[in-house]
Amino acid sequence: MLLELQNVVAGYLKGVDVLQGVTLNVDEGEIVCLIGPNGAGKSTVLRTISGLLHPTQGKILFDGKNIGGLRPDLVLHEGIAHVPQGHSSFPEMSIHENLLMGAFSLKSRVERNRRLEAIYDMFSLLKERRQSKAGNLSGGQQKLLEIGRALMMSPRMMILDEPSLGLDPKTSRIVFDTIQTLRSETGITILMVEQNARSGLAISDRGYVLELGRERLEGPANKLLDDPKVAQLYLGGSTMEETSADPDLIGTTP
Ligand SMILES: Nc1ncnc2c1ncn2[C@@H]1O[C@H](COP(=O)(O)OP(=O)(O)OP(=O)(O)O)[C@@H](O)[C@H]1O
Ligand SMILES: [Mg+2]
Repeated sequence: MLLELQNVVAGYLKGVDVLQGVTLNVDEGEIVCLIGPNGAGKSTVLRTISGLLHPTQGKILFDGKNIGGLRPDLVLHEGIAHVPQGHSSFPEMSIHENLLMGAFSLKSRVERNRRLEAIYDMFSLLKERRQSKAGNLSGGQQKLLEIGRALMMSPRMMILDEPSLGLDPKTSRIVFDTIQTLRSETGITILMVEQNARSGLAISDRGYVLELGRERLEGPANKLLDDPKVAQLYLGGSTMEETSADPDLIGTTP
């Protein structure tokens, strides 16, 4: 396993645990999708991984090393890049400057330029518009820029919070396709949170359902997509009859 969360408890306010013992794992090269209702703690899981929040209990292992409680810059240094929910590019700066910001801690100018060119090769649109202000890009283009910026640190793993939020279906498709291509071309490991559960699971190997700060269900993404309960709650309803539990899905409700 590349990333392992073991019984992670974390929250924002003293004595108020948002994550109530989350256990999940992501294998090297996997795409794993985390779904669940608003307020379930999905973003909190990602923030705890990236060091913005510190677990009060449990462990976060990355490649066997406990990274729980490390500062965000050190987590990034370990190889995990976080693309947060909403927009995080600098609107007044050009695409080029935004990408360079992604590697501000990199000393070697040669290496920085090498990575920049690799990203431009992958995202031709960013290259064409390299001098445009990020604020003038469409929502989908900004998301691609944020993914590109995260890649500037050559992370082993990327954690993406609702990459399709606010995008129309066609643009969402482009973002999901980009994530899938990124994984197949670079082998990067991805943990993604998605409100758009159907599309998120469709490009994922496995999924987790998070409810009230705990993982409730885990399984192969296609099994989750076929699960009547998941369909009813997260996939916009289902006409399927209630069926017996699928043995490939591991229910985690006590
Ligand atoms: N900065 C904060 N300070 C205090 N409480 C917070 C903060 N951010 C989130 N919370 C609380 O933590 C809980 C989980 O929030 P979180 O943002 O992780 O949910 P989510 O599953 O990502 O929801 P959404 O689908 O709306 O993005 C919620 O009850 C929320 O009110
Ligand atoms: Mg969220």
